[in-house]
Amino acid sequence: MLASGGLGAGLPPGQARVQAQGAGQAQAQGQPQGQGQPQGQTQGSGDGVQSVASAKELMELLVIPASNAVFDAGAEPPMSDEAWAAVRRQAVILAESANLLMVGSRVPDQGDWMRMSRAQLDAALEVIRAVDARNGDALSAAGDAVYATCDSCHTKYMDKTR
Ligand code: HEC
Repeated sequence: MLASGGLGAGLPPGQARVQAQGAGQAQAQGQPQGQGQPQGQTQGSGDGVQSVASAKELMELLVIPASNAVFDAGAEPPMSDEAWAAVRRQAVILAESANLLMVGSRVPDQGDWMRMSRAQLDAALEVIRAVDARNGDALSAAGDAVYATCDSCHTKYMDKTR
């Protein structure tokens, strides 16, 4: 079973990994129920959806930890059924987090943002397929594909939203 930290070897280095530790938790604790609504909150689109987390919070709470687990597994393939299942759960979180990026107040436009979020979803689905096939090489490649989707969205959107 892979430990959840300290397996940085091999996979795309960088800020994503470094910032993932701790930041998300601090944020989560800092936002007790109902208080301190994040910026960008809206009433949703009339279908019952209401955005609670900002894009940044989705990054910290879901995208970063889930993708780190995927990157780690890409660098060092799971060695047991349990470890494969753990990676699969994280890949599912990563996929669903992309869905969350595509709804509510997280959506700054209907063009590139949606396309890039969809790319994250597709890459996460690729991870799930690799896991289901128990294919470490495919998992590694899918992890790289995930990383590329992070990068392309940040290139366009990260600075602008700060
Ligand atoms: C569809 C666009 C999009 C995708 C895809 C995306 N991000 Fe982000 N990410 C953002 C935006 C926008 C911000 C800046 C949010 C802000 O500062 O308000 C951000 C911020 C971040 C931050 C900084 C968080 C902080 O606390 O300041 C990290 C780290 C991060 N993303 C990691 C990732 C990783 C890892 C992936 C891929 C698995 C990813 N992101 C995919 C849009 C995206």
